[in-house]
Formats: sequence, C-alpha cells, structure tokens
Amino acid sequence: MMETKVYKIDGDKPLESQLAEPGKILTRNGLVAFPTETVYGLGANGLSIKAVQNIFVVKGRPADNPLILHIAARADLGPLVTRIPPLADKLMEAFWPGPLTLVFSKSSLIPQEVTGGLETVAVRMPDHPVALALIKAAGVPLAAPSANLSGKPSPTLAEHVYHDLQGKIEVIVDGGSTREGIESTVLDITGQVPIILRPGSVTREMLEEVVGQVEVDPALARENPIPGVPKSPGMKYTHYAPAAQVILVNGDSAAKVARKILELVQQGQQDQLKVAVMVSEETVDQEIGLLTEPSQAFILGSRQEPAVISRQIYGVLRECDQLDIQLIIAEAYPRMGVGMALMNRLDKAAAYHIIQV
Ligand code: TXA
Ligand code: MG
Repeated sequence: MMETKVYKIDGDKPLESQLAEPGKILTRNGLVAFPTETVYGLGANGLSIKAVQNIFVVKGRPADNPLILHIAARADLGPLVTRIPPLADKLMEAFWPGPLTLVFSKSSLIPQEVTGGLETVAVRMPDHPVALALIKAAGVPLAAPSANLSGKPSPTLAEHVYHDLQGKIEVIVDGGSTREGIESTVLDITGQVPIILRPGSVTREMLEEVVGQVEVDPALARENPIPGVPKSPGMKYTHYAPAAQVILVNGDSAAKVARKILELVQQGQQDQLKVAVMVSEETVDQEIGLLTEPSQAFILGSRQEPAVISRQIYGVLRECDQLDIQLIIAEAYPRMGVGMALMNRLDKAAAYHIIQV
C-alpha cells in the first residue's frame, strides 16, 4: 500500500505550480485522479503501456474495456488518429471542450492496451480548468477512466475517489464536486452516420442540430436486459450498481407513481429491509408519507430538470451504500434529452428492473 496524497486546489482557478507535482508523477507513469466536468478520472500517461496497465490493475477493470484519451488542445488530436472526418470538425467546434467523447480510427502511436485491442480510439477534451492544466503539465494525452473501483458508481467528489482507491494511487487532485455528475456522451464517428454508444449530457437532440441524423446503438435502446453485444465494450458490464437492490417505477401520473413507490416501500419494510427512495419534487408533493422513518428519502430535484437529477444520482447511490440500504425504490424519467443518459444509468443500477404504473 502506498500513501495517497490529496491535493486540494481551487477547481475554478488552479495554479500552474500546484499541478507541477501531479504532472511529474504522470510523466513518470504514475496514477493521478483528477476532476473533470463529468466525473473524476483516474489519469495515466496514455502512451505508456505500463502506466495504462496499472489503471486496469487498480480499478479491477476487464482488459477488453477500452479507455478514453484526454487532450488539452485540438492540435493534440492529429497524432492519435488516422483520419479526422469533416463532421468531427463540426462536433469539436460545437462541443469541445465538453462532455462529448469521439471515437476515431486509431494511429499506431496508441498502445493496444488503451483500446482493448480495438482499431478505434476514444478521445475527448474535458471542460475543466484543472483537467486541462493537468494534461498540459503531464505533456501527454491522459488515459482516464472514471476513478471508481470497477462496478461502483462513478465518483463526483474527491472523497468518493479516496473511498475506492486510497492506498492504491499516488495522488488525488481535489477540485470540488463535478458539474455534470454523469460520464461523457460517447459518439462513434467512424461510419457514415454517427452512433451514440453511451448517452451523456450532450444529447442526441443537441448532436442532431449540428450534424443531422444521429443513431443510437440498438443495444442501448432496450429497456430490458439481454442486450446484444454493444459496440462500446464498457456498456456490457454492470456499471453503476450500488449494494442495494434498485427498483424503478415509471408512469405519467405523479399520483400513481407516488402510490406505487409508497406501496413498495411498505412491502420492503415488512420484509425487514432497510429502504430508501429516490424521487423528484413533484412525486414527493403527491405523498408526504414517503418522508416518514424508517425509510430514507432522497429528493433529487424537479422532473423538469433532468440535468439536475443526473448530477446527484451517483452521490446518492454511494450514500445509500454508506447507510447499508438494502432496497432503493427510484422514480423513472422520460427518456428524452438528458433523460436518456439519466435513465441509462438508472437502468443499470436497477439491472433493468422497472415497474410500469
Ligand atoms: O466522462 C467521462 O467520459 C469520464 C471522465 C473521467 O472523462 N471517463 C469515463 O471513462 O467515463 P470510462 O473508462 O469509465 O468509460 C469509457 C467508455 C466505456 O464505455 C468504453 O467502453 C468506451 O468509453 N470506449 C472507450 N474507447 C472506445 C472505443 N474505441 N470504441 C467504443 N467505445 C469505447
Ligand atoms: Mg467508468
């Protein structure tokens, strides 16, 4: 076990001098966790086989699940890919820096270990001053998966990273909480029509405004398990799962949803389970009974603002683990806009267990 140092820095205005040391650690192939606008990343020199292999060991990540390379300037992209399709220029113009990862065909500079043996590579430019300054300090593209143990919810606070990875990595750069709270949209642009491999806060609607038609990997469209083999290898693993069983409740009527949630909570309590609910303000307004002990209620925000709800889900799932919650009853949301990404994460947390009312 090594000692994990936590560097607290101003997330909005990091000083270059504060990132010199973490940058050096990355240059000599060590691991540094850092904030991005989506979630915390576990960074390593993306051009070093040894450094990248270390990421897989530390996270307990399957070797066939490829990593995203993080860059700080458009000029850093050229050497990593064989071709930049014209629509990539439009997308980068519109969404970089930001929570959009683009999949290109990879150049020979990139080790197989980064791409899990694929001939493509995923690249993004994070919209976070600390991430950008750290990449510059390291002087190399950073391979960075979410900085959680494999199978755990992604970290939205440095404390989450510390909980999962203390003693296993050298440094955590603590820049406060992350803005989006869910991982970037992953878009495959190697074919004729771009395909969303992982939904995120850059939505299908936003992408279509810039490049026209965009498809969604059919493996994602299913609301039930037994998906086909997703094109994004990571999507086949059970991600984002808390220790508790999660059940989703979906319906158009807030009153019906609230009644069903209350019924499931009472059933869980009769079974002697420690129960929590994750609901919107609108649903709570229907049924004040939800707030009574011994159930724990997490009110995530308004249904009108799925982005606000997305920001909170991973933190709440982690808190449920801390509280030894055994059953979580969570409200479902419309699968439009950011709701598509939000429901993708909730579906996975619930292992696709959803009740329609
Ligand atoms: O927001 C994010 O993207 C965060 C922050 C840290 O940047 N990173 C992140 O990385 O979520 P990770 O490793 O947890 O998820 C990467 C996803 C996986 O689903 C992986 O399968 C997919 O991107 N991916 C990576 N390279 C790919 C490729 N060449 N083709 C298809 N999917 C790829
Ligand atoms: Mg991840």
